[in-house]
Amino acid sequence: MKRIKFCTALMMIVCLVASSLATSMARAEKSADSAALERTRKQVKMLDDLYKTAVVLITTHYVNDEDDLAAGSAAVALFGAMKEKGWHEVRLLDATGQPIEAKNSPQDAFEKEAVAKLKAGDSYFEQVVEKDGKSYLRAATPIPVVLKKCTMCHDHYNDAKPGEPIGVLGYTLPIE
Ligand code: HEC
Repeated sequence: MKRIKFCTALMMIVCLVASSLATSMARAEKSADSAALERTRKQVKMLDDLYKTAVVLITTHYVNDEDDLAAGSAAVALFGAMKEKGWHEVRLLDATGQPIEAKNSPQDAFEKEAVAKLKAGDSYFEQVVEKDGKSYLRAATPIPVVLKKCTMCHDHYNDAKPGEPIGVLGYTLPIE
């Protein structure tokens, strides 16, 4: 009888230790996940500054008339190269309903919701998605009419309400 009690107590202790171990492992995994998500968000911020600064610098110094290669076209080529190398994906999206290139219209549910949210005044929109067992951060940031020169090729940007984005950058980055 005593032995049975001892065994039951022992089993309970083993169970307790195992379950608390499982909880703390799950907690550690969760905090690793949230640290990885934070790192990915920071990467989006860095890329957003990099790409937007490059487009503004190129437009300011190199784009002088409508026939020049648009910084937007150069950016799309750069995004293609980054995707091919397996780093991340970026889409240059239209938020006005009148894109120069139809492929730049928001395509899937995320892009459509992102454009709607940013046009309504949000400064950022994101979603974590799973694909083939891997997690990705999809993030969207607004593109305002930063320079008067932008309207040289997109004359309808003159109709945009002040502060309303005319485009959106849509990022997809692996969460690692
Ligand atoms: C020299 C002409 C030219 C100028 C100046 C220009 N763009 Fe564009 N823009 C284009 C072209 C061409 C595309 C299509 C790029 C592609 O998808 O290959 C484009 C695409 C875009 C898009 C995606 C939607 C669409 O219309 O296809 C946005 C947003 C955009 N440009 C914003 C801007 C902003 C902001 C500026 C000012 C910093 C700017 N553009 C200046 C020619 C121009």
